[in-house]
Amino acid sequence: MVGMTTREAPLPSAAARARSFDAAAAQYGANRPSYPPALLDALEELSGRPLAGARAVDVGAGTGIASRLLHERGARVLAVEPGAGMAAEFRRTLPDVPLVRGDGNALPVADAHADLLTYAQSWHWTDPARSVPEALRVLRPGGALALWWNTDAVDIAWISEAADRSGRFFGLDIPAEKRKAADRTGQADPSGRLDFERRVVRWSRRVPLDVHLANIASHSAFLLTPQDERTAFMTEERAHLLKVFPDGVVEETYDVYLLVAVTP
Ligand SMILES: C[S@@+](CC[C@H](N)C(=O)[O-])C[C@H]1O[C@@H](n2cnc3c(N)ncnc32)[C@H](O)[C@@H]1O
Repeated sequence: MVGMTTREAPLPSAAARARSFDAAAAQYGANRPSYPPALLDALEELSGRPLAGARAVDVGAGTGIASRLLHERGARVLAVEPGAGMAAEFRRTLPDVPLVRGDGNALPVADAHADLLTYAQSWHWTDPARSVPEALRVLRPGGALALWWNTDAVDIAWISEAADRSGRFFGLDIPAEKRKAADRTGQADPSGRLDFERRVVRWSRRVPLDVHLANIASHSAFLLTPQDERTAFMTEERAHLLKVFPDGVVEETYDVYLLVAVTP
């Protein structure tokens, strides 16, 4: 029966999930959504300076989706990425942007180096007890830490239904988790040292169903799901989505949650 596949094994640890992207870097780079121009406008507004000429350190840079946008706006970007597979894909697609291997808990960057420190979909992989002091060390006074996440817009019926199906597959209440993501401020810095301003930017993209399914499959929980279970889920998902999008073009809608804290 369609929609009844469930994942058999327990979910892997956060550490395993944080490393999961390396084996699927090309899939990640080709199918994950980027970020809208309005996000970069909001970033400039909240950080109080233009991106052009800014020294930006983009951490958890992955395949370079965010680094590319910062670079295109004229920022002098240094990318930091822990994973070998993601770093290799980054270097293949953005050879003009320097990248060093490292992570947000111990940044390979000098004190007071950066005007802007960015984490696009990657802050949640760090330990804030370490990554917050590291951010304060690496930013110059008056510099800005910016965190953002593309989050599925679960107020849209088909997106909420799809999140319910993923939730049943993993044994989680995914729509509730996505709604909780609406307030990441408290989780971002439990120590309260950073004073975040918050913006939500809604945007959409229209992509072939295959790209949409490959995008879903590039999330860490699916990457670590045995292939036969993943294939069974995606086959069912395709059938559901073809009922909503009979022409095979899916309109994905995201809310980007942006948090920006300017240092004293
Ligand atoms: C969801 S991807 C985001 C990639 C990219 N920033 C983007 O916007 O597409 C998360 C990235 O965080 C990296 N990562 C994992 N643990 C990390 C850590 N402790 N600090 C920084 N990045 C980490 C992963 O290797 C992966 O490349």
